[in-house]
Amino acid sequence: MTEQRAQWKSKMGFILAASGSAIGLGNIVVFSGNAYKFGGGAFYLPYFVALFLIGIPVMIMEFGLGGMTRKSFPIAMRQAGGRAGEWVGWFAILNAGIISIWYVTLLAWVVGMGLGAMTNKVFVDTVTVDWVGGTGAPMQGPQGYFFQMIAGWLPVVCVIVVWALNVIITWRGTQTIEKAVKVFVPLMWVAMILLVVQGLFFLDGGFDGGKVLFTPHKEALGQLSVWQGSVSQILFTLSLGFGVMTAYASYLPKKSDMTHNAVTTSLLNCGFEWIAGAAIFSILFVYAIEPKASTLAMMYFTVPWGIKALPVNHQVFGTAFFLLLLVAGLTSSISLVEAVVAAARDKFRASRMKVLAIVFVIGVVGSVLCSLPTIVDQDLKETGTLGLLLVDLFGHWSFDTGLIIVAILECIVIGWVMGVDKIRAYVNDNSRFNLGLWFNALIKWVIPGSLSYILIYNFVEYDAKKGALYGSTYAAKFGLPEGPLASIVAALPIIALVVWVVGTAGVALWLTRSKGAEEETA
Ligand code: PFF
Repeated sequence: MTEQRAQWKSKMGFILAASGSAIGLGNIVVFSGNAYKFGGGAFYLPYFVALFLIGIPVMIMEFGLGGMTRKSFPIAMRQAGGRAGEWVGWFAILNAGIISIWYVTLLAWVVGMGLGAMTNKVFVDTVTVDWVGGTGAPMQGPQGYFFQMIAGWLPVVCVIVVWALNVIITWRGTQTIEKAVKVFVPLMWVAMILLVVQGLFFLDGGFDGGKVLFTPHKEALGQLSVWQGSVSQILFTLSLGFGVMTAYASYLPKKSDMTHNAVTTSLLNCGFEWIAGAAIFSILFVYAIEPKASTLAMMYFTVPWGIKALPVNHQVFGTAFFLLLLVAGLTSSISLVEAVVAAARDKFRASRMKVLAIVFVIGVVGSVLCSLPTIVDQDLKETGTLGLLLVDLFGHWSFDTGLIIVAILECIVIGWVMGVDKIRAYVNDNSRFNLGLWFNALIKWVIPGSLSYILIYNFVEYDAKKGALYGSTYAAKFGLPEGPLASIVAALPIIALVVWVVGTAGVALWLTRSKGAEEETA
């Protein structure tokens, strides 16, 4: 039976959706956190090398795969590389599912913080949180509000709301996604441009803050960690390695210029990222607020603290900031959801409604669990510090491991098993710009080679630092011998999440398997 595949109404709709996927929390807060951690100007050379040598070619490949096969990632990968290829595809979809659960948790907290900003509770000077820190020391407003909030029921309500928004926006696939991104994506550009103009030109000294981002730092160039950080940032910010871009491109007409699409999407994303970085650095610099390398601290504590210092109405400005985060985050999370839904529909011929219902239940339960304080960090109660465990584990997994493994395997399947010439020929046939033999070299050698190196580096580094930390901290906590066993115990929340997602999705799809496919109208 041939089913008519849904299609974007216009190329513009696709570019808005793809760039909306790319532009998200990663651009607004993770980028600033990384740029700070890696020494401001030290970051941009490795960043642009990673963008042009890895990011854009992988995006061309992911778009090309979607356009050529007009299938979601696992099925497209099966066409490229047989059963093994399909497994790589499903591994990417599992990652997308896990990361969507985490991403929605972050967005639920964004909603909670937005409500706090609206009611001015975030902007009080100090809050004494009654359940963390042991010492009962007062905390700065945003931090105190955050800890108080996550101990209550508000995050549960917010999780349900954010997941419901995801389901509503993806309800009729490209049709509803296109409607949403046409409003959301321009909105976030306008908001970010206002923010940067305010930061750079209306704050005394703001311009110097923005310049920190562009001031070169030669020493850092020799550090491997800066290169590793740039590559991970590029892959994550461009939404690569999760099958998302292939799913979106599969809704394009076969004869689409994928090189042009990939370059446009990447440049829009990175442009937004640098504007966001300049805006955030300007505010932090003017008020001498130490930026935090931790993304979460940056997003929930540091920037709101900067907003409190701004000569503007905090309630309005703060609410607008969290609204911007929510809108930018939603256009990203829906792409993760769509990647999962498209894959399940292509494989199991299940109706979109059924798959969305399953995704909603799995997602809500998963995100609620992730938002619980004890899961966020088993040490939270005693130390009052956020982000040791779950945040690190997710970061480690999504940034440093899962998507890099997928990207390497993708290059092997497409570059070697299928043959990179096939995809290059398809892309070139429809493109104004001709990809030369250099593209083959990148996909077959340079990208998998450098990513493998980074993967090993991350593994060793992580094991040396965090692994040892978990190994000993959690060994003491659970009365276990120090070492790998304690690390595994520390990783139990993530392992449990994987089991929950795979188990429930499998059972639900099996129980509801249908004989015919739903006809999806374009
Ligand atoms: N690119 C998004 C960001 O920068 O926040 C995050 C993301 C969305 C990653 C979708 C991967 C993905 F498939």
